[in-house]
Amino acid sequence: MRITDTSDLWWKSAVVYCLDVETFYDADGDGVGDLAGLAQRIDYLAELGINCLWLMPFYPSPDRDDGYDVTDFYGVDPRLGDHGRLVEVIRTAHDRGIRVIVDLLINHTSDAHPWFRSARESVDSPHRDYYVWRDTEPPDTSAEVVFPDQEDSIWEHDERTGQWYLHHFYRHQPDLNVGNPAVVDELMRVIGFWLELGVDGFRVDAVPFFVEDVETAESHLAGDPHQVLKELRAFLGRRRGDAVLLGEVNLPYEAQTTYFGGGDGDELQMMFDFVTMQASYLAMARGEAAPLAAALAGRPELHPRCQWATFLRNHDELTLDQLSEEERQEVFAAFGPEESMQVYDRGLKRRLPTMLGGDPRRVRLAYSLMFSLPGTPSIYYGEEIGMGEDLQAAGRMAVRTPMQWSRARNGGFSAAEPEQLIQRVVPDGYGPEHVNAADQRHDPDSLFSFIKALVAVRRSCPELGWGTFALIEQPHPSVLAHRCDLDEVSMVAVHNLGPDPVTLSLDVCRAGDGTEALDVLSHQLVAAGDECLELVLEGYGHRWLRLRPEGALDLP
Ligand code: NOJ
Repeated sequence: MRITDTSDLWWKSAVVYCLDVETFYDADGDGVGDLAGLAQRIDYLAELGINCLWLMPFYPSPDRDDGYDVTDFYGVDPRLGDHGRLVEVIRTAHDRGIRVIVDLLINHTSDAHPWFRSARESVDSPHRDYYVWRDTEPPDTSAEVVFPDQEDSIWEHDERTGQWYLHHFYRHQPDLNVGNPAVVDELMRVIGFWLELGVDGFRVDAVPFFVEDVETAESHLAGDPHQVLKELRAFLGRRRGDAVLLGEVNLPYEAQTTYFGGGDGDELQMMFDFVTMQASYLAMARGEAAPLAAALAGRPELHPRCQWATFLRNHDELTLDQLSEEERQEVFAAFGPEESMQVYDRGLKRRLPTMLGGDPRRVRLAYSLMFSLPGTPSIYYGEEIGMGEDLQAAGRMAVRTPMQWSRARNGGFSAAEPEQLIQRVVPDGYGPEHVNAADQRHDPDSLFSFIKALVAVRRSCPELGWGTFALIEQPHPSVLAHRCDLDEVSMVAVHNLGPDPVTLSLDVCRAGDGTEALDVLSHQLVAAGDECLELVLEGYGHRWLRLRPEGALDLP
């Protein structure tokens, strides 16, 4: 690891914080969060210690998919502010050492986008080939739809021209034909535009779908559909060498490898690790480390410039689609047994603390585990204070409630009348009177303080982002023990997923070098010398021990 690499590849040791501007903080009191409000809350994010802010779509949109249906890739939704306000957010974030990445929608537009309006006018429209069409009646594609509650086909018949257009998501989100070089040019201009405005990279939405579309559209790239991603990445690199593409690719590891560009590492630099995320829930449901250990052992080796992004929750359903039916039912039974908690037959519409029965030991265990794994941790707003969900909200909206800043009316999110809010604040036992940032910020025992400590440790221990990972063998089924090694430092982390205490003896010290083990969460020196580490872990307990040569400065 060289210093130049750590700054160019900053995202390998970053902590990502995702938020939707419209539910974060409302500065003008109209009930909708805005960019002016976000600018005022950047210092809160700096206090938490995160150094990469991911902004969910803020573009003009009819808002039929919470902003993921865009009508202007260059615009800012006027409800949220304008380009000037956005630049203020970016500028303020940069000043506090926080990079900003934004959602990039390549797979589809809204059907109200001018390209699609033009495309559906006639088969001769200059934008017709911006989308994917077919002449003949499509086969049954009901198994391929992403939102089975709303759609039963990925093709929609268009009355005017008598053809069908492709839409992997809702029918009002026609898929772009990225096999068309004119579309790729358009997307490059979009990427170039936001880079010039100061963003540091992109969270790329729905990646496998648009790569697959290249084949469906029978473009000249069919047979080599990844070429599109390679071109976009190369363009990004030419414009800004340290910009990042963090992709949403919910596929098994083997398939994910190709989206990193395999051994060349020339496609996405980062991808969310859906496999480990889903295995974590199965492991927590069982109180056994085995499913998680198996997932981690199955992680493919990545190109040194690539990285996993680890996460426990995001703005979508907690998808369990990569588990077997039996495993999924186990997780449902443990964390979301009621129908109102489930969605699309594959996921849960809950946040983490409610799933874990509000048990602070289990909540902390889950975050400690996620932060200790190699990769770049990504958290979704409100996770740092343990927000719950609103199960009465439709589908995924359950976890998209306003940020709870204080005990004040509307959780301090907005001065508007409660009926005017973009979405109601969580109403019950997880409402602002119980869960809010103001109460937690100055409480050393709060979840906020705990997450803040994890962020700080994570950022100061590059072995987690850059080191080599290995599971450590030990006899307790409820325990996951692992280590990350980089040069002469190592992080050893142990997590007990079960309710009963365990005693562990770990042979991790290097013989003869007088290794010291520092507990980086309690700041205590726990052992020195060549002996095995003897540890007692409480039920749901966790420890992070940094091993270093005796007397070494505790810095990388
Ligand atoms: C993935 C996003 O995470 C989700 O919220 C959205 O509905 C789909 N892509 C379609 O854009």
